[in-house]
Amino acid sequence: MSLLIKGGTVVTAEETYRADVYCAEGTIQAIGKNLKAPGGAEVVDAGEALVIPGGIDPHTHMELPFMGTVTADDFMTGPSAALAGGTTMIIDFVIPSPEQSLLEAYDTWMSNAEKAPADYSFHVAITWWSDQVKEEMGVLTRERGVNSFKHFMAYKGAIMLDDEVLLNSFDRCQELGAMATVHAENGELIYHLQNKLMAMGITGPEGHVQSRPPAVEGEATQRVIAVAGAVNAPLYVVHCSCKEALSAIATARANGQAVYGEALAQHLVIDESTHYLEDFTQAAAHVMSPPFRSKEHRDAIWGGLQSGTLQTTASDHCAFCAPQKAIGKDDFRLMPNGCGGTEDRMSVLWDQGVKTGKLTPNDFVRVTSTATAKIFNIHPRKGEIRVGADADIAIWDPNASRTVSAKTHHSNMDFNLYEGMTLTGISRATISQGKQVWDGNELRVEKGVGRYIPRPTYSSVFDRVKTYAELNAPHKVERA
Ligand code: URP
Ligand code: ZN
Ligand code: ZN
Repeated sequence: MSLLIKGGTVVTAEETYRADVYCAEGTIQAIGKNLKAPGGAEVVDAGEALVIPGGIDPHTHMELPFMGTVTADDFMTGPSAALAGGTTMIIDFVIPSPEQSLLEAYDTWMSNAEKAPADYSFHVAITWWSDQVKEEMGVLTRERGVNSFKHFMAYKGAIMLDDEVLLNSFDRCQELGAMATVHAENGELIYHLQNKLMAMGITGPEGHVQSRPPAVEGEATQRVIAVAGAVNAPLYVVHCSCKEALSAIATARANGQAVYGEALAQHLVIDESTHYLEDFTQAAAHVMSPPFRSKEHRDAIWGGLQSGTLQTTASDHCAFCAPQKAIGKDDFRLMPNGCGGTEDRMSVLWDQGVKTGKLTPNDFVRVTSTATAKIFNIHPRKGEIRVGADADIAIWDPNASRTVSAKTHHSNMDFNLYEGMTLTGISRATISQGKQVWDGNELRVEKGVGRYIPRPTYSSVFDRVKTYAELNAPHKVERA
């Protein structure tokens, strides 16, 4: 199986040049001018389009049991939708129940993902602490290709962690050379405000945003940076949505701390007023955490991406349909948190980022794939157009448009956050493992061909991170 992409402009995070790209055996085999296709090779004419690394979405939740239900996209439908949008790999989350073995949960997610039509990998969440958890983190890094562990500071009474567990786990991450990742919201403060709002009779989706003001995220981000800093654990903060979180990350980075940040496409464009929509179904469909923010915060997050304070973009694809959101009809605290968007992430970033002049095409590649591949240590296999890299490629038409609708998207969701938006910048063809799986119109995905991509713990991040002992040189004072 071989494929020749003729006549496009290769765009990586670093370079832009015209070249043909020849793929065989699932990898890029040659890049150059006027390449000839061997007999039998499929030829894709890129014309005036860009040839970019397939997107990597570092934050998705396929078939996740969460808040009394299970997300509506599974490992077949979710990644298929991603492919239609130019994203060729997802990093999903294994989320063990508190007290559950991490290895057992990992096996469940591995088995769920057997049907995936595109490559995938897993972060593993720490939802409780014990010697067994500590030991299993070691097994996951050494034997299962896991190099990142997720920590939730919100969702009190379910998967929220206190500072003691954060410290224990971050210490272990540092020891193992694994990245600590975090959902930074102060769960105690949310719980307090939720109960206050309910007591005032505010039971609808507007209660969700009012119980999660920016201070909730700002405090948690600042605290978790301090906790990670105390044990010198590199930290990756998921879904940064407000200027308070951004400035905490910027300050930490300016002080030399290894802190990374992720922006969600939806936090860049959707306004907080959506939480106050009169139509319950519409307002409920927007319930996610952190919630949507005002323009001031969205501008700050754009600035974070532009300046490099934030490095990656994700979708946090966590699909729930209207009947699932209705679980919280009379009590917003019970409403499953999450929105979709893995199919639209790249188009949103092009339309609202590149077309407006905020990002260059090279920045676009960096924030949609390359930076994620580097931070999570799968570069240059992923996130790169280079001989030897996996042939995961999007042929990106910077001028073509599509109007987003739940009627035509490929997710199982009955709602789309970007409904009615006409986005310029689309994947005219998506190539996964050297095979064209999307032609701009139709998916040609194959169940089960996706591979688990192991991620070794070595990362350039850790080269420059000293251990607690190296940095602080703790010493005992001998006294008579
Ligand atoms: O509301 C969200 N983001 N749901 C998915 C779980 C999480 O917090 O990332
Ligand atoms: Zn989260
Ligand atoms: Zn999430």
